[in-house]
Amino acid sequence: MTAPLTQHQVEIQSNLAAWKKKLLLQKVYAQFYQRIIALIDPQAAGRIVEIGSGIGNLKSHLPGALSTDLFPNPWLDLVCDGYELPFRDRSVSHLILFDVFHHLRAPNAFLREAKRVLLPAGRLILFEPFISFCSYPVYALLHHEPVAYTQPIDFSDVLPRPRDYYAAQGNATRLFFKRENPGWPGVWTVFHTSAFASFSYLLSGGFSKPSLYPDSCLGLLQRCDEVFSRWPKIFGARCLVGLSPVGSVHPPQ
Ligand SMILES: C[S@@+](CC[C@H](N)C(=O)[O-])C[C@H]1O[C@@H](n2cnc3c(N)ncnc32)[C@H](O)[C@@H]1O
Repeated sequence: MTAPLTQHQVEIQSNLAAWKKKLLLQKVYAQFYQRIIALIDPQAAGRIVEIGSGIGNLKSHLPGALSTDLFPNPWLDLVCDGYELPFRDRSVSHLILFDVFHHLRAPNAFLREAKRVLLPAGRLILFEPFISFCSYPVYALLHHEPVAYTQPIDFSDVLPRPRDYYAAQGNATRLFFKRENPGWPGVWTVFHTSAFASFSYLLSGGFSKPSLYPDSCLGLLQRCDEVFSRWPKIFGARCLVGLSPVGSVHPPQ
């Protein structure tokens, strides 16, 4: 894509307007946040930092987390770039990226920085689109970002310049589930991968489209999601990945 990096800030503003108007989306996301929170080690000392917080919603479910993003919005705690984190070595217990990993043109450059700041038993938690038989057409046709399922991924570990707006919605599915690059990500332990159906999310229209169901049907759809999550390759729409720097002790399953 050739859009400038500031395209993110344009989207943050429009997402904020949509979020305020759409209670249904807030409820759908609340369930996503609970999945992320379930991967947090409550005993761990050190800061919990969210990278790419966007409109900053995670914080209302996880008040102790530091909200950060590339752009200085008033609800954030800190402006920071995932490729150049302003934290001391081994000082952070958790890094959380919600829909941010697929915007990292050079994931290894980010992972190198994440490994530097995380404590040895720290956790990196990624929440991402999951590409399946059912979700592919939705992400490919109804979302403005490319799925980029066959595009090469940049595995260099240097900060990519010039910076631009990069998006490849399929990257987490390709790297953590299809295991396109066996052995990757090398020095990390992947302690959790789960992919699950989320028709409650897809049919909500997300931030940019109208909802295809009334708020009162959310519970029913979420129950359907639970059932369909048994077959993620067919019905999956979202995924959660947990990584630890190698050397951590008994990461959870
Ligand atoms: C799709 S939005 C997700 C926002 C938020 N996490 C959410 O779930 O609503 C992607 C966010 O990642 C941020 N982002 C992209 N590249 C980044 C980087 N290198 N470092 C930090 N944040 C980044 C963008 O500014 C944007 O806010």
